[in-house]
Amino acid sequence: MTFQNKISNYKNIVDKELKSIYNKGPLNLTEPINHILSGGKRLRPLLCLLTASAFKGSKKDALIASVAIELLHNFTLIHDDIMDNDDIRHGLSTIHNKWNNSIAILAGDATLAIALIHLNRLTENKNLIIEHFNYALIQVCEGQALDLAFQYNMDISEEDYISMIDKKTGYIIGLCSMLGSIISKNDNSINIKLKKYGILIGRAFQIQDDLLEITSNQNKMGKSLKSDFLLNKKTYLTIKANSINSNIVNKCIKTAKNDFNLGFSKYKNFLVENGIVDESIQKINGILASARSILDGLDMNNKYLYEYIKLILNRDA
Ligand code: IPE
Ligand code: IPE
Ligand code: MG
Ligand code: MG
Repeated sequence: MTFQNKISNYKNIVDKELKSIYNKGPLNLTEPINHILSGGKRLRPLLCLLTASAFKGSKKDALIASVAIELLHNFTLIHDDIMDNDDIRHGLSTIHNKWNNSIAILAGDATLAIALIHLNRLTENKNLIIEHFNYALIQVCEGQALDLAFQYNMDISEEDYISMIDKKTGYIIGLCSMLGSIISKNDNSINIKLKKYGILIGRAFQIQDDLLEITSNQNKMGKSLKSDFLLNKKTYLTIKANSINSNIVNKCIKTAKNDFNLGFSKYKNFLVENGIVDESIQKINGILASARSILDGLDMNNKYLYEYIKLILNRDA
C-alpha cells in the first residue's frame, strides 16, 4: 500500500469515529461540536497511527489515543479562536462567531471531557497514557498563556518564542508519536526519542504556520489569518523583523488598523527585502533535519515516519 493510501485510509477511519462521538445532548452543544469536528487535516491522529504502525503496536489502542488527541486538539482550537478573536476555522464560521462565547466555552469543555472519557477505552497502559495526555494539556495552557503575555512584550527572543511554540503546539504533536510508541510497548528510551521527534515536528509546523500566514490565504488555509498580525502575536517572522528594526512591526500594525492591506503589505515587503522569508524556510528545514536524524537512530523496517516529515514539509494549507 502506498503511503498516500495508508494515510487516506487512516483519515477515513478517524473521520468515521469522530462522526459518532457525540450526538446525544442538547442541540446547542451537539451542533457546534460536530460543526468543528467535521473539518481538519487530522495530522495528529495520523502521526499516532503511523507511529504505532511503524512499531507494530495495537491498532485498536492507537485509534483510541488518536481520536482522543484529535478531540483535545479541537478543544484547543475552539478556545484559541475565542482568544484570538477569529471568525473562520476548518473553512467554516468559528463556534463563538456562529453561536456565541458561552456556547464555545461549553463546547470546548465538553470536547475535552469526551476525549478523556474516550481514553478510558484503552486496553493497556491507560494510566500512563492519561498522565501524558494531561501533561500535554497543561503545556498547551502554558503555551497559550505565554502567547498572550508576549502580545504585550516587544522584547521576545527567539529562545522565548521557541519555548512558547513548543508548549502551545509541539507537546501535543510530541504526544502523538510518544503514545504511538508507548502503545507499541517500546522501551522508555525509544518513547522519549519519539516524543522529541514529535516536538521538533510541532516546532517546524508552527513556524511554517507563521510563514503560511504571509504566503498563503484564508481560503486555502480555511482559517482567518489577519488577527495574529493585528493582535501583535509573536511569530518567527515578527521576531526576526523586530531584531532588524525594533519598531517595524508596530508601525505596520498601526497602519493595518486603518488599512489592513496597506499595513500588511508593508510588513510583507520588509520580510522579503530582509531575507526573513528565506530564513524561516531554512529554519523549518533545519528543525525537520533534526527530527529526521532522531529516526536514523531507530530500528524500524518501514519509512512511515520519514514520509510524515515530507508530508509536513510539503503542506501548503
Ligand atoms: C492548527 O493546527 C493549530 C496550530 C497548531 C497552528 P492544524 O492546522 O493541524 O489544524 P486543523 O488541521 O485545521 O485541525
Ligand atoms: C496554535 O495557535 C496553537 C493552539 C491552537 C493551541 P495559533 O493561534 O497560533 O493557531 P491558529 O493560527 O489559530 O490556527
Ligand atoms: Mg492563538
Ligand atoms: Mg489562533
